[in-house]
Amino acid sequence: MKILFIKSAAVSSGSKSTEIAELFINEVKALKPEVEIKTFDLYGMEPFPEQDRDVLNGMFKGESEPMTALEEEKSKALYGFQDDFLAADVYVIQSSLYNWALPGRLMTYLDGVMKPNITYKYTANGPQGLLENKKAIHIHGCGGIYSDGSQQEFGDSYIQFIFKLAGVELLPTIWVEGIDFNPDAYDDVMKKSRELAKEMAKKLLA
Ligand SMILES: Cc1cc2nc3c(=O)[nH]c(=O)nc-3n(C[C@H](O)[C@H](O)[C@H](O)COP(=O)(O)O)c2cc1C
Repeated sequence: MKILFIKSAAVSSGSKSTEIAELFINEVKALKPEVEIKTFDLYGMEPFPEQDRDVLNGMFKGESEPMTALEEEKSKALYGFQDDFLAADVYVIQSSLYNWALPGRLMTYLDGVMKPNITYKYTANGPQGLLENKKAIHIHGCGGIYSDGSQQEFGDSYIQFIFKLAGVELLPTIWVEGIDFNPDAYDDVMKKSRELAKEMAKKLLA
């Protein structure tokens, strides 16, 4: 089983959902030592590719005209994420809620890997997923509380949408939430999240 661990906290330390995601990974490893884990720490990569003008100009050239060296280099950097993405059986996606949505590099990473005719295709009945027998779990750190639906955020809803679109089965999200707005809740939230991470690790392998 190949696990792709995608980390997107921009801070270098203190990310609560990163701690929970790492615990989840360690728990899976303890239960099934033969799993292969590949980690992408998106904010630990320099330089990080962009889906910019060179990349899109290159994409629209198609077969008719060769890409410039710069277009090719930038396209390879971004779309090169696809090989590991397609090879994985399980995606563990850590994110921190920034501005009610996902960190920018995670969106860029998803632009690089979620592509028509690779992860989904359009049919007369709407889009259809092309990834089979793959699972994902989203571990999401948020300042406020969103999992009860009392407030709206677009991070988890986007992850749910885009992975389902690709045909990936999602385990329930682990929300590591509410600590910024209620620091006294730290111990309770982390305890609950650690327990849930252990439960989800078992569920993943069941
Ligand atoms: C740049 C930035 C933007 C943020 N935007 C939001 C937000 O829109 N809503 C919210 O509830 N918390 C927001 N927060 C708080 C984080 O979501 C919170 O600190 C959370 O714990 C981060 O997750 P992590 O600790 O698991 O990395 C923001 C924090 C930063 C640094």
